[in-house]
Amino acid sequence: MKNQLLKNKKGIIFGALDERSIAWKTALKVYDEGGEAILTNAPVALRMGKISELAKKLDTPAIAADATSIDDLEKLIDFSLNHFGQKLDFILHSIGMSINLRKKREYTDLNHEWTTKGWDISALSFHKLLQILFKKNALKEWGSVIALSYIAAQRTFPNYNDMADNKAYLESVARSFGYYMGKERKVRVNTISQSPTPTTAGDGVKGLNSFLNFAEKISPLGNASSDDCANFSVVMFSDYTKKITMQNIFHDGGFSSVGISQDLIDIIDQEQK
Ligand SMILES: NC(=O)c1ccc[n+]([C@@H]2O[C@H](COP(=O)([O-])OP(=O)(O)OC[C@H]3O[C@@H](n4cnc5c(N)ncnc54)[C@H](O)[C@@H]3O)[C@@H](O)[C@H]2O)c1
Repeated sequence: MKNQLLKNKKGIIFGALDERSIAWKTALKVYDEGGEAILTNAPVALRMGKISELAKKLDTPAIAADATSIDDLEKLIDFSLNHFGQKLDFILHSIGMSINLRKKREYTDLNHEWTTKGWDISALSFHKLLQILFKKNALKEWGSVIALSYIAAQRTFPNYNDMADNKAYLESVARSFGYYMGKERKVRVNTISQSPTPTTAGDGVKGLNSFLNFAEKISPLGNASSDDCANFSVVMFSDYTKKITMQNIFHDGGFSSVGISQDLIDIIDQEQK
């Protein structure tokens, strides 16, 4: 699928950890479509993850930046502007982490210091990033910024824990900052609410397989894969979506609009027999 949708477009992709990462798939699609991106991740992910493999393959820099650090983010944006010699066209914020989830603390017994740290990484980092991009006037007119979200921002999925609250905040930042980015910079800011997807972050959610199977049985089109998400992100970075902003767009095979599916009714009927 090489349509050159992103010809001459330059950007930054946060969050490629390994081949399963949504950001990893998106980076590959961006290059397929003629774009170029600087890759970035937390310092520990640069040491432990495989991002340098991807950077080598795409012949692009991989820069360490903790998304909670203003200093790291400022250096990253300065580096990127200098590297490309022009303003940026697109940004993917594909970052999520809950210490409570990782350490299996229940939502009714949160360690609030961990909650604060997870919120800083997963949600406030998006505001920090947007603020730096805004102040440095680092985005081109009609540029596009995307962060990845999940439907637990709107509906309760008990095992998603404090990440649900982080996603609600993340989506709100996209709307709030999207106003200023639109009005003063002609830049789009959106969140994509993606189906459950098997990745390292996904593995942290207790019962991910049940989440995946449940969503698969509800969604008329089936779950959206990470490749599907990468394709959609490319379209959202392209000039074909110039007037979409401040939206949370469900990319979930129809999951968010279904009450109950015939597949689930059949399973429940079967149990009652
Ligand atoms: N996997 C799913 O089911 C699913 C569904 C909907 C939305 N999402 C969202 O998609 C995004 C990407 O997740 P993924 O599923 O590809 O998993 P992933 O584990 O591959 O990506 C998460 C990334 O966040 C990075 N990260 C963590 N702390 C960081 C920090 N301090 N600074 C910079 N980066 C940091 C990790 O290193 C990792 O690369 C996340 O926002 C996630 O919540 C995932």
